[in-house]
Parts: sequence; C-alpha cells; structure tokens
Amino acid sequence: MDRKWWKEAVVYQIYPRSFYDSNGDGIGDIRGIISKLDYLKELGIDVIWLCPVYKSPNDDNGYDISNYFEIMDEFGTMKDWDEMLLEIHKRGMKLVMDLVVNHTSDEHPWFIESRSSKDNGKRDYYIWRSGKGEKEPNNWRSFFSPSAWEYDKATEEYYLHLFSVKQPDLNWENAKLRHEIYKMMEWWIKKGIDGFRMDAVNCISKAKGLPSVDSECEGYVYGGRYFLNGPRIHEYLQEMNREVISKYNILTIGETPDITPEHALLYTEENRKELNMVFQFELMDIDSGPSGKWEIKPWSVEDFRRIIIKWQRELDGKGWNSLYLNNHDQPRMVSRFGNDSEFRAESAKMLATLVHTLQGTPFIYQGEEIGMTNVAFDSIEEYKDLETLNFYNESVNKGKEPVKAMEAIYKKGRDNARTPMQWNDDENAGFSVGKPWIKVNPNYKKINVKIENKNMDSILEYYKRLIRFRKQNPVMVYGRFVPLANDGPIFAYVRELESEKMLIILNFDCLDIEFKISPEIEFQNLKLMLSNYDVKHGQNPGQIKMRPYEARVYKLTC
Ligand code: NOJ
Repeated sequence: MDRKWWKEAVVYQIYPRSFYDSNGDGIGDIRGIISKLDYLKELGIDVIWLCPVYKSPNDDNGYDISNYFEIMDEFGTMKDWDEMLLEIHKRGMKLVMDLVVNHTSDEHPWFIESRSSKDNGKRDYYIWRSGKGEKEPNNWRSFFSPSAWEYDKATEEYYLHLFSVKQPDLNWENAKLRHEIYKMMEWWIKKGIDGFRMDAVNCISKAKGLPSVDSECEGYVYGGRYFLNGPRIHEYLQEMNREVISKYNILTIGETPDITPEHALLYTEENRKELNMVFQFELMDIDSGPSGKWEIKPWSVEDFRRIIIKWQRELDGKGWNSLYLNNHDQPRMVSRFGNDSEFRAESAKMLATLVHTLQGTPFIYQGEEIGMTNVAFDSIEEYKDLETLNFYNESVNKGKEPVKAMEAIYKKGRDNARTPMQWNDDENAGFSVGKPWIKVNPNYKKINVKIENKNMDSILEYYKRLIRFRKQNPVMVYGRFVPLANDGPIFAYVRELESEKMLIILNFDCLDIEFKISPEIEFQNLKLMLSNYDVKHGQNPGQIKMRPYEARVYKLTC
C-alpha cells in the first residue's frame, strides 16, 4: 500500500463557534483557536479541519456562505486567519478548510444577481424552474424543511435548495460557475492551506429533468436517488482534480451521505483521480428508521460490527476509510454508542480505541477527547440549530406531542455536539467571559479539560497514548484488517502488516464477558500494548475476562 502523509495523520475537527471565545462576545473565534494550538499539538494532532469561517449570515452556522474570500466578522479578520495558519504550520500541523460548493447563501452576490431577472448573466448559476401549475417543480423534500423549492416572486419561478431556504443550490451544469469555484479553491491553496473537506459533495450533480419521486405519499419526499451520486458527479470531480487538486499535495475528503463501499471506491480509488477519502454515513444511520434520522430505532452491536467489517474489507488496498463516530452534525459518540453515566470514561476510551485501531484516517471531534456528552435543554427555546427547530415546528404542527419531539432532539439533535467546549470549571466552562451563543452543557464542572489534564488516567491522556501508539506502529495505519469470529457484545480483530500483528478486543456492554481466544492466536505470545483498565497478568490462557466497555490491544509474537 502506498505511504501517504494523510493516511498516517490524525485529524481534529474544530467547530469554531463553540471552540474558544477570545473577545468575550460569546462566540468562538480564530484568535481563540490560535490560543489553543498548543493544546492540540500536545494531544498529537497532525491536521485541523476547520468548519466554515467564511463570511456568512449564519442561517446554518457558516454553511451558508455569502463571500468565499472573506472571514466572518464574528470570527475575526483575514489577518487573524493568516496568523492562525502560520501558527499551525509552525507547530508542524496542517489545515484543512471546509469547502461548501453545493450551495451558497441567498445573500451571496451571485444569487442576488441570479434572482434579479431571468436574463441576468448569473441566472444559470442556480437551479431555477417554473412551477407545475400551483405546485413546485417536483416533490423533493429538503433536508431542513418540507419542500426543496422556494418560489421567488420577482421572476415568478422557483429555486432549488436541498438544505435551507437560505442555501440555494448551485448549478454545476454551468461550466463558467465550475471554473469560478476552481479559481476560488486555487486562491485558498495558494494561501497555504493543506486540503479541503467538501460539504455534501455527492449532491452536486442532479438527475436530468429533476424528476419527481414516484411515491404513494402525498407531499414532499426524500429525492436522494435523483441528487446523490448523480450522473455527472465523477466527471465534475475528475475535472476539479485535473484543474486544481492534482497540482498540489493536498488532502481531500468528501462528505457523501447515502453511499455504499462501491460508491466510495469510485470516489477514492487512486487511479480515478477524484478524492482521497469520503465520510460514509451507513454507521451514522444505524439508529434511523425509514423516514430518516428523527425516527429513532435501537441499534445493535451486531449491525455496528457488520457495517464496520464491510467497509474495512471492501476498501482494503483500493480506497481509504475516514474513521469517525461523531461530528458537528451528530450526537456525541459516548452518549450514542457508549454509556455517558456510570461508564463514561471507560466507554469513551473503548470507542476511541476502535477509531484509532481500524484501517483509515481517524477524526476526533472537539470535546470527544474529554468525553463530552449529549445535552438535554428544558425548552426548545434553548436550541439554535435550524434543522432541530424546523423538525420541532413541523412535528408539532402535524399534531405530534412536543415531549415526543424533544425526546428525539435529545437523542439526535445537532446541538448535542455544538455546546461550547468545556475547558475548565469557571463560569461558562471557561469558553467565554460573555454570554455564550448557546448554553453550556451543565455537566462542565465534572467534565472539562482542566480536570482531564490533572489526571494521568483521564480520557484525554488515553487519547494521547492512542495517538502515539498509532504513530509508532505502522501496522496500525497500513496493516490489513482481519475480523475474528465475533458474537455478543465483543468486537475483536487483528491488524497485520508482514510479520507484525496486533489483536484488538473491545467490549460494547456494561457487563463482564469472557472472550475466548481462538486457537491460532492462543499459541502466540500476547504482549499488552494498551488498555483502558488495569490489567493483571497471569490470566487463564485462552480466555480473557473483559470488563464493562473494556478495550485491549495486544501485540502477537510467535
Ligand atoms: C453538511 C454539513 O456538515 C452540515 O452542518 C450542513 O448543515 C449541511 N451540509 C449543509 O451545508
């Protein structure tokens, strides 16, 4: 397998609004990030992925961009950004910027021109259609609101928005627009950035004719089959690669909902010259019912393992996995896949062990490294995320009980991941001396960086050990993934690179369980490399008692 810097890297995702506020306005900012770079360096981070910091009216916290070449006022200035990049590079780390080009803000000058008249030169930069009688051009649902279309009185046509009304979709069929985007990407690369995380990138090519979804249901229907992995997607990405990416040694990560490993290979196989890796959503959808994320169903360890094994096997030697269990759009991993009460520390460490011992590039989302948890605010008024608010209003308008909607929000709402980073036990968790834009999770007195720093057995210290371990052992990066016969709550696998072998055993349950070592492994020496518990030696050979959420990594030697 080819060695690449981005395969060996560990990425840390910063959601700037909630990371650290340097000027007391209650909103995290770039100078705040600069002041925490040593913290990230000490953690062992190689790459920072920064969520959007471009000029934006903030309908969707920066994912609605009104100027790609300027910094959002709340976050600081371009001078601050330049200094941040310099300081990141000085510490030997790299910076990946979010690239949001499926849509812009409706306040972007392109859209303002586009909506001004049907014959404006920028009209075709967006997707405009006339209605079908009194109705929208098709029945697609938007991710954030019922219809994916908005009627615009000025020209009596509708524009497409797969996300919010204030995020009109760009028309990638227009070659002039595509080249404007490539120019913008090149502008940022020339400023010295090291890569792009491409927002909703598999939505950029829509099916010809924008057909309605054939459905028995009235109203708006999820139309993914007509806008995900669309007919020209690979042509666009290959063009982007030719025009921009191939000229530089940068990292590209695609955000790609609803894909299979077969799709992932089309995006990431090296000879296809598209992207380096993609974020798959199969694992994130494990607890979603047929109507989507808010229809919550229980997940099982069996499904969890099956999905991971499938992705590990199918991309091995051909594509490359990105490894993540949470981000700014997902609930906190310890609350969702672990146990955020009695076994919070154990399960946070066990899940981290999984992410850092699979084949792929691990991503850490801010706060994960101290075991931050979901939050449950008393009232909907405390919530800020537009997806959450739209879901609440739509459900209540349809007659659903508000408490039921709140229950779903407690489990799946995006604000679970967006409460301010918990730095210490001062007011507002040390995030800001002002009033934070969103309330701090009330558990900050017990869960914060200051406490974690003082305790050698903390989650934070465990992350440092895990990251070091991965760096010191190439088998953890390049080794083949071999699942063992798994059942019950145990997930066990071996990573192998030539004669190097590591055995990983994880317990996903809050009860003790015996793990039987298969005979081929039994006759090798097991040298314990990492564990989230104290391990006494001299156990029964052939059998290991795994305690609640225990994780062990052994080196196998003949
Ligand atoms: C995916 C981003 O991660 C999410 O936060 C955003 O709301 C949508 N794309 C729209 O840009």
